[in-house]
Amino acid sequence: MAAESLTAILAAAGSGRRFGGAENKVFALIDDRPVLLWSLQALLDSPAIDDVIIVANARDRSRIEQLVEAEPRVLEVCEGGDERSDSVWNTLQHLPQDTGWVAVHDAARPVARPALIERVVAAARQHRAAVPALPITDTLKRSADGEQTLETADRRQYFTVQTPQVFERELLVSAYASARESGFAGTDDASYVEQLGTPVHLTPGDPDNLKITRPEDLDRAAQLLLEQQEQPPDNVIRTGMGYDVHQLVPGRPLVLGGVKFDHPVGLDGHSDADVLLHALCDALLGAAALGDIGEHYPNTDPRWKDASSLALLRDVARKVNRSGWAVVNVDVMLLSEAPKIRPYVGEMTANIAAALHVGIEQVNLKATTGEGMGFVGREEGMAAYAVATIRSAH
Ligand code: CTP
Ligand code: MG
Repeated sequence: MAAESLTAILAAAGSGRRFGGAENKVFALIDDRPVLLWSLQALLDSPAIDDVIIVANARDRSRIEQLVEAEPRVLEVCEGGDERSDSVWNTLQHLPQDTGWVAVHDAARPVARPALIERVVAAARQHRAAVPALPITDTLKRSADGEQTLETADRRQYFTVQTPQVFERELLVSAYASARESGFAGTDDASYVEQLGTPVHLTPGDPDNLKITRPEDLDRAAQLLLEQQEQPPDNVIRTGMGYDVHQLVPGRPLVLGGVKFDHPVGLDGHSDADVLLHALCDALLGAAALGDIGEHYPNTDPRWKDASSLALLRDVARKVNRSGWAVVNVDVMLLSEAPKIRPYVGEMTANIAAALHVGIEQVNLKATTGEGMGFVGREEGMAAYAVATIRSAH
């Protein structure tokens, strides 16, 4: 039934005041990926969620649009308001017609696991409104001034609540509409529904579903996301190949295998254009089924402009290792007419071995000329092939 479809609202329109820094905390990186994209991924990984609308403040809107442009299930990035509730209210006006259920999730919660989302959605479908809740474990005191206690509360009657909070669409829309009339301002979506006199069901939350509030929260989130990553099975060997080509032009340094050559022409490109290391990066990413170098390090990204490709290779090695793989060996073949690289092979091999955290006996490097033929032979450019073998590292 069409009206059963569930749209998630991802609230990203805050400014992250407590987090500090020059930009909204949802852009802070966890393992090279903005918090916002981790939170979005958590929603999209859940089979219960059909599509997503992101709400952003005016300043961040186009940046967020760019980040999610390749994701067809993000319907729209709409503009938020001063308070989180204004942001949600604005977004409710943009829901697709056939949406029957709405999940509101903080973009600052990147560790929402599919099981949690499933649980809240199932409870909402049964009870019209549900939120993930955690019992209080510490003793709960009431105080008017933060200095003196007035009483000790019965903590069994209190819960902290998280997101995603899931509601029947009509219920949530009328709750917000009535709050706009009465002037009620709540700190979460469920409080608006409560104002209507409709009870909201409490579903067990997940203590790991933390909200990034201060910079130190990033480390904990990174650790949890890493633990969640799928690890390869034991004793598996994988192989990947890579190829790259760059043009030789005057006025550019020639860098191969992290070694700078004294040569009249150099390779053209966004980074240092180290063709040999680029082919190797692609071979490693290929072996670990992690895509390719262009995907991870787009040449539009200013972070890698004129960057050393050894830094790139170190980062690739880190990604491969973090995905549960160790490098067995790599073999690289450079196609170049000049200069002679033989005298520098030792240094290049050592650079690569150090970047990959492997022994030099696991790295092989060789070169061939084009025998005067083709673009290599005419010294118009250089090319490189690489093969990498990895094994599951546990
Ligand atoms: N949010 C929103 N619109 C607002 C305020 C907050 O969409 N006007 C979003 C935030 O982007 C965040 C989520 O609601 O993902 C939870 O809010 P909070 O953690 O308080 O984030 P900020 O308001 O950005 O942080 P702070 O309160 O420290 O300024
Ligand atoms: Mg806030």
